[in-house]
Amino acid sequence: MILTLNTWLDLLSKEAPDELNRVSRQVDPANFESAAIVDGLERKGRFPAVLFEKVTDVKGRATSCRILNNTFGTFRKIGLALGINSDKRMELLELILKKSSEGFSPNRIRLKEAPVRGFLHKGGGVDLSRLPLVRHTELDGGPYFTPVVVSRDPHGRYNVSWNRMQYLDERHLAIYMSPRHLWSYFAAQEAEGKDLPIAVVLGHHPAFHLTGSMLVPIGLDEYAATGGVMGHGLRLVSSETWGEDFWIPADAEIVLEGRILARRRCVEGPFGEFTGYTGAQRLSWVVEVDAVYGRENPTIIDIFPCKTEHINAHLPIEASIYSRAREAVPGIVKTCWVGSGGPFNLIISLNKKTEGEPMRAAMAAMSASNFIKHVIVVDSDVDPENKAEVMWALASRVQADQDVTILKNLQGQVLDPSLRHEIKSSGMIIDATLPLDRPFPQRGEVPEEIRKKINLSEYLEG
Ligand SMILES: Cc1cc2nc3c(=O)[nH]c(=O)nc-3n(C[C@H](O)[C@H](O)[C@H](O)COP(=O)(O)O)c2cc1C
Repeated sequence: MILTLNTWLDLLSKEAPDELNRVSRQVDPANFESAAIVDGLERKGRFPAVLFEKVTDVKGRATSCRILNNTFGTFRKIGLALGINSDKRMELLELILKKSSEGFSPNRIRLKEAPVRGFLHKGGGVDLSRLPLVRHTELDGGPYFTPVVVSRDPHGRYNVSWNRMQYLDERHLAIYMSPRHLWSYFAAQEAEGKDLPIAVVLGHHPAFHLTGSMLVPIGLDEYAATGGVMGHGLRLVSSETWGEDFWIPADAEIVLEGRILARRRCVEGPFGEFTGYTGAQRLSWVVEVDAVYGRENPTIIDIFPCKTEHINAHLPIEASIYSRAREAVPGIVKTCWVGSGGPFNLIISLNKKTEGEPMRAAMAAMSASNFIKHVIVVDSDVDPENKAEVMWALASRVQADQDVTILKNLQGQVLDPSLRHEIKSSGMIIDATLPLDRPFPQRGEVPEEIRKKINLSEYLEG
């Protein structure tokens, strides 16, 4: 079966109906209304996907689009996107790694077979104000898309990354790029005075979106990795603007073809970010849109950036960090970044074999991604997902003068509000593992053989 956003919504309705809420009343997303509903649910500790069936455009007019939020609100929904009925974080991490490394070559199909070619507006006919864009937090500089961007390097490698975009006018968006692969593609083109062609995917099967946040090595094609994660070759169709020089996901909901303009900058933001704070207004890059096309009644995936769905959507990044740290230190059992209680904290558990391993594990994780600022390393008897256990290890196994290492001048996350420099950051590694080179008290436990022998229900009522 070809995976599309609609096949996933059908699966969700069937397998986990409590994970999907439909809102049939009209909402005005550019005026915070869809965000307020997602916010209201989160404040009640609820994270169902919310399908807004009637949404207005930037100017308050009715549209034929729908908006989906909280696609990644729970691990169960991420599991269903990956093809398993599980909400176990580590199981999902391992599955993402397995599927993406297996890969699947894309399949090219003809224009008339491509569902994404249901309607088309191009050139002067492009009017982005006809689409629903979303304001989430009070100070947002304008309404936004939170799409996945496809780009291509001169050697034909496709890159898939998540990049927010702010509405500027009928044909222009501002894009935010951290210094990663997309940014490097653009920098290389701009150095030659050229624009960078991109395809902006506003909705697809959630497995497609998840690949947008994988740290796929620059030598590997991300369309192939995406196919791996989806479990079949991604179907592609030639583009409207560049023909067979640029291939587009044929089963997407809506695609904007455009260019990141060389030597043009604009003011972007403020924007409520995944850090939980409103990020500053800054100079960003301008996208000019040349063509808009999509399915009839398309669904746009929106991510509320300050909320759980945004943090959870980073799970593939954690998978890459976990994999790289484990290459350095095979004794690593678990990591916990998504769910660690902060956007830049990573907790690693390992079966320590020699002194110094915790430091190597932490440094490998830190060098894998500038998303990691603080690393706490614990032994495998402590569950990184259990914050109380981690705090106990910190309290009882750490002497700050010897077990805390401060690193300076790391490339940080520009969005980190605590930075005192535009991008340079400090880092902290806390080794909360037990020493191997001196005695340490044993944990206070009931003897194991007695624990195993006692069946609670034989002693307690209810
Ligand atoms: C929901 C979500 C939104 C994101 N938004 C942005 C963004 O606006 N700009 C950005 O540079 N990275 C953003 N990221 C992170 C990148 O998508 C991610 O780091 C990706 O791996 C970068 O890909 P690249 O190295 O291929 O460019 C976002 C990640 C997620 C999960």
